[in-house]
Amino acid sequence: MSRSAHPAGPRHADVLPEGHYTAPPADLNALDPKVWSHTVTRTADGVVSVGGIEVTRLAEEFGTPAYFLDEADFRERARAWRTAFGHDADVFYAGKAFLSRAVVRWLHEEGLNLDVCSGGELATALSAGMPADRIAFHGNNKSETEIRAAIEAGVGRIVLDSFQEIVRVSHIAQSLGKRQRVQIRVTVGVEAHTHEFIATAHEDQKFGIALADGQAAEAVRRALNLDGLELVGIHSHIGSQIFDMAGFEVAARRVVGLLAAVRDEHGVELPEIDLGGGLGIAYTSEDDPREPHEIAKALSEIVTRECEAARLSTPRISVEPGRAIVGPTAFTLYEVGTIKPLDGLRTYVSVDGGMSDNIRTALYDAEYSVALVSRTSDADPMLVRVVGKHCESGDIVVKDAFLPSDVAPGDLIAVPATGAYCRSMASNYNHALRPPVVAVQDGAARVIVRRETEEDLLRLDVG
Ligand code: LLP
Repeated sequence: MSRSAHPAGPRHADVLPEGHYTAPPADLNALDPKVWSHTVTRTADGVVSVGGIEVTRLAEEFGTPAYFLDEADFRERARAWRTAFGHDADVFYAGKAFLSRAVVRWLHEEGLNLDVCSGGELATALSAGMPADRIAFHGNNKSETEIRAAIEAGVGRIVLDSFQEIVRVSHIAQSLGKRQRVQIRVTVGVEAHTHEFIATAHEDQKFGIALADGQAAEAVRRALNLDGLELVGIHSHIGSQIFDMAGFEVAARRVVGLLAAVRDEHGVELPEIDLGGGLGIAYTSEDDPREPHEIAKALSEIVTRECEAARLSTPRISVEPGRAIVGPTAFTLYEVGTIKPLDGLRTYVSVDGGMSDNIRTALYDAEYSVALVSRTSDADPMLVRVVGKHCESGDIVVKDAFLPSDVAPGDLIAVPATGAYCRSMASNYNHALRPPVVAVQDGAARVIVRRETEEDLLRLDVG
C-alpha cells in the first residue's frame, strides 16, 4: 500500500511515519459504503445511524463497547449467496465467523445451511431449530463426544479430516446403528494469498489429507470400505480473506481430478464437492471483494468444464462463506477515553474496548477503518492509532487511520466490518466483559447476545 507524504494535521511532521495507510480521505465525515453495512448513513444532524437508529441513542441504551449488527444487511447478503448459487448448489454459512441463535434462525429462514466446528456451535444451531440434516460438522480433532452428538442429532454430513477420524466416525456410527454421510477434507497444495495463520491448503499444516502423495486417494479407499460411513464427496477449504479466485480454481480442478481417479479405481462417482469458504471482504477502502454471483459463476464454470473433460457428471457444489456474509454487517461502537499525541509520530486514541473484542489486529496484523460517528467535524485529519484499554502495547484496534484532529474524550468512534471473527474470538483478557451484539433493523434494536457481567465472570470462578 502506498505511503502518504502529506502532513497529517497540526501536530505532525511533514513526513508520516511507517505504516499501512494512504493519504487521508478527502472527506473524513464520509462513510465508504464498501466498508459500512448497507443501512449505515449520516443523518442531517451529523450523527451516524444504522437501521434507522442514531449511534448516540444506541450507546445510551446498550452502552459501549458494543457490536451493532445490521439485520437487513445480513439477510440480504445471505440471500445474495443463496440466489447466486441457485438450486443446484448449497450454501453453508460458517458459524465460526459469528454464531448466535438469532443468526441461526435468520439463516434457516433465508434457506442457508450451516457449517459448525465444535459441540458448542452444534448445540447453538440445534437449539435454534436448524434442521440437523442442513448442518455440516467440521474440525481436525473432533472429540468422540462431539462426533456422537453430531451423529445422534442426524447432521447432514461430517467432514473427515484425518485417517484416525475415518475410523473413529465409522465406529461411533456403527455403535449407534447409523450410516453417516461424510466428506473427506483434502489439502490441494495451493498457496492462498492471505495471512499464514489463515491459509489452509498448503501441505505443511494441520488440516486435511494431502492430495499430492496419494494420501487422499488412500483415505477414499478406506472410507469406502468401512461400515457406518456413506462417502458422498470431497471437501477443500484453501484459506480465508482471499480476493484472488485463482486459488479456488486450482482447488476445484484438483478436487475434480480426485473424483475422476475415484471413479476410475472404484467405479463410483462421488456426488458432492465442497469448495469451502474464504472470500475476502473490504476492511478498508483499498479492498475490492468479489460479489457472490461472480464467485458462483467462476466456480460452477470451472467445475463443469473439468467434469466434462473427465467425463464425469457434474457433482453438487457447496460453499461455506462466513466472513463474506456476516463480516460487513456489523461495526463496533467505542467511546473515546484518553488521547495521547506524540509529536511527529501519531496520536494514540484509547477506547473502552480493545484486543478482547477485536484480536484480529494483534493476531493477523489486520487492517481496519475508523470513523467519528457521534458528530461531524471540519478539523484537519490526524494520523491516529486506535488502541484499547488492555495491559499491553500490542492492544491495537486500528493501527493506522485518520480521524479529525479535534477528536476528544466522550466522542463515539466506530470500526466497521467487525461482524466476523471479532465477537466469536473475543476474550475475557484482563477480566474484560465481552460486549453485546445488538441487531438493528427498521428503527428497532434488540440484544441478541447480551453483555457479560461481573457476575458471569464470578460464576465460573468456583475456587
Ligand atoms: N469452511 C472451513 C472449513 C473453514 O475452516 C472456514 C474458516 C470457513 C469455511 C469460513 O471461512 P470464511 O468464509 O469466513 O473466510 N479467525 C480468522 C479466520 C479463520 C478462518 C477459519 N476457517 C480471521 O479472523 O481472519
